[in-house]
Amino acid sequence: MSIIELLLLLLLLAPPLKPSSLPPLDTPEGKVTITGLILSSIERATSFLKKRLPEINLDGIVGFRVLEVQLKGVQEAWAQDPRLQPLSLRVGKLVRKLEPLLHRSIFYLKLSDPQYLREFQPTIQPGFWKLPHVWMDTNTSMVYSKFELEDSFSEEHSDLCLVQLLGTGTDSGQPCRLSDFCRTLMTKPGCSGYCLSHQLLFFLLARMKGCTRGLFRQSQHYMNLFCANMMDLNWRAEAIGYAYPTRDIFTENILFCGISGFSDFYKLRWLEAILSWQKPQEGCFGRPDAEDEELSKAIQHQQHYLRRVKRREKQFADGCSSHNTAMAVGALGGFLYILAQYPPANRELQQATPAPPTDTNGSTPATQEDKIHTFHPSFLES
Ligand SMILES: *[C@@H]1O[C@H](CO)[C@@H](O)[C@H](O)[C@H]1NC(C)=O
Ligand SMILES: *[C@@H]1O[C@H](CO)[C@@H](O)[C@H](O)[C@H]1NC(C)=O
Repeated sequence: MSIIELLLLLLLLAPPLKPSSLPPLDTPEGKVTITGLILSSIERATSFLKKRLPEINLDGIVGFRVLEVQLKGVQEAWAQDPRLQPLSLRVGKLVRKLEPLLHRSIFYLKLSDPQYLREFQPTIQPGFWKLPHVWMDTNTSMVYSKFELEDSFSEEHSDLCLVQLLGTGTDSGQPCRLSDFCRTLMTKPGCSGYCLSHQLLFFLLARMKGCTRGLFRQSQHYMNLFCANMMDLNWRAEAIGYAYPTRDIFTENILFCGISGFSDFYKLRWLEAILSWQKPQEGCFGRPDAEDEELSKAIQHQQHYLRRVKRREKQFADGCSSHNTAMAVGALGGFLYILAQYPPANRELQQATPAPPTDTNGSTPATQEDKIHTFHPSFLES
């Protein structure tokens, strides 16, 4: 079944869209309220992590490691403002809770999946993930005229290329390596779903690793291309009422493209959607309680459909998903970070400046000054 067919099927099952219940962001009170809501959600998800630590897989830990960096960025941004002291204290408390948990997680991963841990350990090391310095918007004219069937994507092949890039394979210690096979796979046009998000992840990890030669000279170009298409797929997910099978990839796209510097993924109504998916009891994200038979059939279908690309996904009996929860906290941390960086008071300034031409070789160190002036107004539009 093609992604379009799947989406059409889901459209029939989608609930109607509800009006927004979040306060407007253009007042300090609105901003504090929304920040508080995000923080509460992240706190509950962190309690879930703590309770289930031995069962969380490596992909799950990655999401919380990204969150940790975002929280530290938030603390730094808030340090100047005494009005934000109470929120800042909450963030500090969260960071202190998270650090030992992430440290302990390595112990459990060694027991459950030592090879995968060895290969992907860099991605859960402190200091690996860095926050974007330059914000930009996706470019709609880069959207593919048609998407390929997702079935062609292999997680094994993708992992192989990521391991080569990270330099964690048994055969070499050198990072930033790239075979012809991986070059072809990671730049292949027309991908959708997890194939597309893994192509973006490949260039994102290359950036975090500091790879700048050969193909990586064009990292920014490929990131522009992939995130433009991930944005298009997120619009489609929204159009079908975020039917469950699309939620995980929708959230993953916000996490990855957000931390790649595409601020237009941080839409207020997307934030609201993600917040509404959290399970109030468990604090996790995952499979919604199936209300009817149609939905539960669609869920079964989707589990079959995702199996081959999510082999390390861990779905708990209560419907909590390690992967879903990780993607959600990383996305929510991104919302928190961009909110902290750009208080409403600065919005006029940001709206007055056009988006800059994006650097094509992906190596623009930005100053604090640049941050303000390169910021584009579309973030957190509702
Ligand atoms: C968007 O992409 C198109 C096609 O690649 C390009 O010609 C155009 O300059 C881009 N626009 C911006 C604002 O970068
Ligand atoms: C990026 O482009 C600039 C200017 O075109 C050049 O000086 C620099 O060496 C390039 N960096 C890389 C890593 O290719």
